[in-house]
Amino acid sequence: MSCSVRPLLAQLLKHRIGPSSSSEFIGLDRCYSARSRRCFWTLASDNFDRSINDNNNNNCNRSGTTWCRLKKVCLGLALAAGTLATCGTVVLRVLGSPVVEAGNASVHPPKLPWGFNGAFASLDHSSVRRGWQVYKSVCSACHSLRYVAFKDLVDVCYTEDEVRDMCSEYEVKDGPNEEGEYFMRPAKLSDKVPGPYENEEAARFANNAALPVDLSFVVNARHHGPDYVFGLLTGYREPPAGVELMEGQAFNPYFEGGALGMMEMLQDGGVDYDDGTPATKSQMAKDVVEFLNWTANQEWNTRKLYAMKTIGVSLVMAASLWLAYRHKINVHKKTVFCLQPKPRRNRPCDCERS
Ligand code: HEC
Repeated sequence: MSCSVRPLLAQLLKHRIGPSSSSEFIGLDRCYSARSRRCFWTLASDNFDRSINDNNNNNCNRSGTTWCRLKKVCLGLALAAGTLATCGTVVLRVLGSPVVEAGNASVHPPKLPWGFNGAFASLDHSSVRRGWQVYKSVCSACHSLRYVAFKDLVDVCYTEDEVRDMCSEYEVKDGPNEEGEYFMRPAKLSDKVPGPYENEEAARFANNAALPVDLSFVVNARHHGPDYVFGLLTGYREPPAGVELMEGQAFNPYFEGGALGMMEMLQDGGVDYDDGTPATKSQMAKDVVEFLNWTANQEWNTRKLYAMKTIGVSLVMAASLWLAYRHKINVHKKTVFCLQPKPRRNRPCDCERS
C-alpha cells in the first residue's frame, strides 16, 4: 500500500472505532501471513484492541445508532412489503381464477402444444409460408391484413423476387396525380397488403352486418390467441337445442355467444400447398395460425435471440463484477487487523523511512 493511502485507512479505522477511542496510530505497517498470503495491518496502540472490541460488541450503541435503526426500519419495511405482495398475489390468484357462470356461452379453447412457444423455439417458416397461402386463397376474401407490408414477407417465407412477382398480382390505389385524380397501380414491395373492402360499412354490408376483423394482430387481441383462432376455425358444431341462429350465422362454441357471423371456411383440400403438404382442415388452421402469430409478432425470433444474448452477456458481466467485488473492492472486509502493541524500539514503517 502506498503512503498516500495510509492516512485514508487510518481515518477509516478511526471512524470505525468511534470518537471515544483513545487509540492513536503511531505506525501502520503491512506484513503478509506466510500461510494465506493475506494482508495484515500492524497497528501500534496501547488500548487499540480493547476499543475495537468495545466497538464490535456495542456496535449499535455508539456512533452507528441512527444508522442501525435506519437499517432495522428498512429491513422491517422490506419484509412487510414482501409479505403483503405475496399474500396479495395469492388472494388475487384465487379470486381471479376463471369461474363457471351459467350465462357463459363460450368454451375455453384447448391448450395446444405450439412449436413456436418456448424460450429457444422459433417460428416454423415453412408453416408461415403455407399460412400466407391459406390467408391469400381463403381469408383474404373477407379479412384485411392492413398492418403487413409485402416487404415484411421477404426473407421470412419468400425471397424478394417471389414477393415482387406476388406484388404484380395486386393493384393499389394511389394518387392524386398531376390532374388531381386517384388511380390504380401495381403494388410495390413497400405497400401494405390491400384489403378486400373499401371501408367498414362495405365490409359489414357484405357480411350480414358482422365485421370481419383485421387479422394483423388478432392473435394478440384475443385471450390465448393461437388456441382461440385454431379452435374457432376447426370448432364448428351443430347448434344445440334452444340456440337460434340468424341468417349467415354458424354455431361455434369458442366464440362468445356461440353465434358466429363467419361460416366454416376451411375444408379438406381447400388450398393447393406449393410444398406438397396435404391440405387437411387442421393443417390449414395450424398454418394460418402460425402465419397470424408472425404477423402479430414479427420480431418473434429476434426477440428471443436478443434475450439469449442479453442473458449471456449479463451472466459474464455479473461474474466479472462479483470477482472484482470479491478481490478488489471488498478488501476491507477481508482484511485482517493485527492489533499488536509495537515494541518501543520497533523500526518505523518502510514508507515512513523512505
Ligand atoms: C366470407 C367471409 C369470411 C372469410 C372468407 C373468413 N372470415 Fe373470418 N370472419 C368473417 C366475419 C363476418 C367475421 C365476424 C364474425 C362476427 O363478429 O360474428 C369473422 C371473424 C373472424 C375472426 C374473429 C372472431 C372474433 O373473436 O371476433 C377471426 C379470428 C377470423 N374471422 C379468422 C378467419 C380466418 C383465419 C379466415 C381464413 C381461414 C377467415 N376468418 C375467413 C368473415 C370471413
